[in-house]
Amino acid sequence: MLETKHLTKKFGELQAVSDVNLSISRDGIHSIIGPNGAGKSTLFHLLTGYLKPTEGEIRYNEEDITGLAPRKIVRKGISRSFQIADLFEGLTVKENLQIATQALDEKRNAIWMSSDALTTTLEKTDQLMADLELSELSDVRADALSHGDQRKLEMGLALAVEPDLILLDEPTAGMGKQESVQMMNLIQRIVNDRDIKLILIEHDIEMVMQISDRITVLNRGEILAEGDPKEIQANERVQEAYIGTEGE
Ligand SMILES: Nc1ncnc2c1ncn2[C@@H]1O[C@H](COP(=O)(O)OP(=O)(O)OP(=O)(O)O)[C@@H](O)[C@H]1O
Ligand SMILES: [Mg+2]
Repeated sequence: MLETKHLTKKFGELQAVSDVNLSISRDGIHSIIGPNGAGKSTLFHLLTGYLKPTEGEIRYNEEDITGLAPRKIVRKGISRSFQIADLFEGLTVKENLQIATQALDEKRNAIWMSSDALTTTLEKTDQLMADLELSELSDVRADALSHGDQRKLEMGLALAVEPDLILLDEPTAGMGKQESVQMMNLIQRIVNDRDIKLILIEHDIEMVMQISDRITVLNRGEILAEGDPKEIQANERVQEAYIGTEGE
């Protein structure tokens, strides 16, 4: 489904992503792990068009998407989680999701929207809120939500464009253990129900081992290992890479 060839991103002298060859299949949850500064987020920025690679190629469903602008990549079916800063803070949960849903069709304009199209948007928004367990908070302003609910709303914006592939960079960051587990269960359920491929960056190794079908380990910009959770857990090079970063 998604492939990279010799993907490289340099920031001056630093190779943040270095000759990465990825091949990610349609099925299951694929996680990217690695110590701080390994290049995980940079890899996501490359895959979603927010950064242009220094070298290499990205192919999505066999098509070369290297260097395309983010909105063009969204149109190909790839979405990513947004940052809290991307929420319209003064608007409600429902309004945020409506805007994101409407953005799906550039030509669609709220003023000219037919009543059918409007009904579809509202139905989709209601469904999203239900899936995210945000229905009761429908009329609450984004800036009044708890941190956890804001993260759900960010996830909602990423889902509103109806992607085939979604990239989530630490969706449980800043959450306690229990809340993280709930969020991850929710994410798993949604991607399953909607048949969306998930690529996940996650710090919590225990969680990664539980939910992933495949794992890629990055270290200093390079792929250190790839395999299923059992293989990764048993890999000595991976264990070494994590020594000294434990407890962070
Ligand atoms: N815009 C940038 N300009 C210069 N250096 C950058 C930039 N973005 C990232 N870097 C550097 O590239 C390296 C990889 O950073 P990246 O954020 O991709 O790591 P990460 O694996 O996501 O780390 P973390 O687990 O801490 O989120 C780091 O050394 C970082 O300082
Ligand atoms: Mg990161």
